[in-house]
Amino acid sequence: MGRRHDSSSNSDRAGLTPLGRYATLIAVNAPRPQTHHIFAHRGFSGHQPEMTIAAFRAAIDWAAETGLRLGLECDVQFSADDQLICLHDSRIDRTSTTTGVAFDFTVAELKAIDFGSRQTPNPTDEQRTLITLAELLIMVRDARQRDVDVTLAIETKHPNPRGLDTEDRVAAMLAEHGWDRAGSPVRIISFSMEALIKAGQLLPELERTYLQQFDFGEYETGKLPDGIEAFGPDIAMLKADPDFVARARDNGHEVHPWTLNEPADIDFALSLGVQGLTTDYPDRVWGHVNAPSRA
Ligand code: G3P
Ligand code: CA
Repeated sequence: MGRRHDSSSNSDRAGLTPLGRYATLIAVNAPRPQTHHIFAHRGFSGHQPEMTIAAFRAAIDWAAETGLRLGLECDVQFSADDQLICLHDSRIDRTSTTTGVAFDFTVAELKAIDFGSRQTPNPTDEQRTLITLAELLIMVRDARQRDVDVTLAIETKHPNPRGLDTEDRVAAMLAEHGWDRAGSPVRIISFSMEALIKAGQLLPELERTYLQQFDFGEYETGKLPDGIEAFGPDIAMLKADPDFVARARDNGHEVHPWTLNEPADIDFALSLGVQGLTTDYPDRVWGHVNAPSRA
């Protein structure tokens, strides 16, 4: 069973209670210049079912309300009918009411499956419905046209049945929006160095983040291959090696750990001097980034 989410009528669209919403507004009513990238992990997944239309709409709404820059993080993989869908797991068992391998379903079939009920009671249509990358790009485009400062961190998941076709397709889709060049609101992130290198060949002007879990391996010195801007480690890796952030910074790299949901983790990451924070709760992270004690 997935995490439960509050969808009661006492919450707003982002799932915030009146008190939570008030706390967010207090924090942003006295804003300092935003110095950190905040990334909404799988959409605003702390308050809405992950990777659904509702999760990304809530994240965009929060960015609109607060006036803050917010990155939307999504994992992409192919459907059976050659489209890119936003979904973390290779199977749909954990987040939907059906079982099976995501790649075996067409988009139409996935759209008919309930991705809301396992994560929130009585989901709305948008809380039940998985989003495609094409839809998400349009959502981001429309938000930016309304001057909402949202960006996108697209994670290409590997291994997958189509391999590096994923990068080819992402590049082609970004080109349709004119987002395949400098100034693009999109960064490519991946646990696969091979995928990041290919993304660099296709999209040399876009920022890239190398995600890591468990250990830094050959990158322990804090140096990434040329052109890859940021490290994206599991926060547990920084707890085991807090000096890593300084080494990465010395090599000119940013560090964007994940997934920062607990206050202690958020404060710890900020104390190390990370530049990006990936979280299921952008409102929580912003409260810490903008806390008076950090002035
Ligand atoms: O953005 C980094 C984070 O998404 C990596 O972990 O497993 O949620 O894709 P995962
Ligand atoms: Ca991810």
